[in-house]
Amino acid sequence: MAKLFLCLILPLVMALSHIFPVTEADPRFLQSVKLNPMKHKTEKLSHFKFYWHDIYSGPNPTAVGIVQPPTINNTTSPTGFGQISMIDDMLTEKPERNSKLLGRAQGFYGQASQQEPGLLMAMNFVFTTGKYNGSTLTIMGRNPVFHKVREMPVIGGSGLFRFARGYVQASTHTFDIKTGDACVEYNVYVMHY
Ligand SMILES: *[C@@H]1O[C@H](CO)[C@@H](O)[C@H](O)[C@H]1NC(C)=O
Ligand SMILES: *[C@@H]1O[C@H](CO)[C@@H](O)[C@H](O)[C@H]1NC(C)=O
Ligand SMILES: *[C@@H]1O[C@H](CO)[C@@H](O)[C@H](O)[C@H]1NC(C)=O
Repeated sequence: MAKLFLCLILPLVMALSHIFPVTEADPRFLQSVKLNPMKHKTEKLSHFKFYWHDIYSGPNPTAVGIVQPPTINNTTSPTGFGQISMIDDMLTEKPERNSKLLGRAQGFYGQASQQEPGLLMAMNFVFTTGKYNGSTLTIMGRNPVFHKVREMPVIGGSGLFRFARGYVQASTHTFDIKTGDACVEYNVYVMHY
């Protein structure tokens, strides 16, 4: 009986379901867009370079620890596994904090690795100057902070970065082990319209 079902009935049901689809999109809330607004635009590759400032020290921190690493067997993990920080970091043109502000990196990162320091980063770059003012890029990826160059995906964007995809390469410019303050060079390569 099971054999009959597999050999005859199942293929028949599958074939019929193509001819008479069981589920149909509800046209009231799901419609394909006939006029693709990007159709006549060409996709281009842009490269941006700027510096990202993680500031824990002083009276105006832009990075705050929001979850401390848990204690397991009376010790915390040597990598800080489980720690989470929220950030609203400046993105500047030059490594100096007081150089031209281009935007901010808003989001959070957490220690997601037990073997070596390795962050899961989830942040939006919000640009505040020039043509890209108000447009955003979303970055989500793995950041093993002590590697020379770390690559993370750009998974999307808004405004002039609609349909964006690409990657960033992050390399530490300065890091103060006492305060945790860091300045990181970001090179962003992004395909967008
Ligand atoms: C905690 O201790 C137990 C028992 O000694 C051990 O099996 C476990 O691996 C330890 N966990 C960590 C995270 O060190
Ligand atoms: C953890 O450390 C405290 C203080 O040293 C001790 O009283 C406690 O028994 C320890 N717990 C474990 C699970 O080792
Ligand atoms: C960026 O956009 C905001 C909001 O529209 C506006 O207030 C601000 O003046 C703009 N900044 C620049 C530098 O164009």
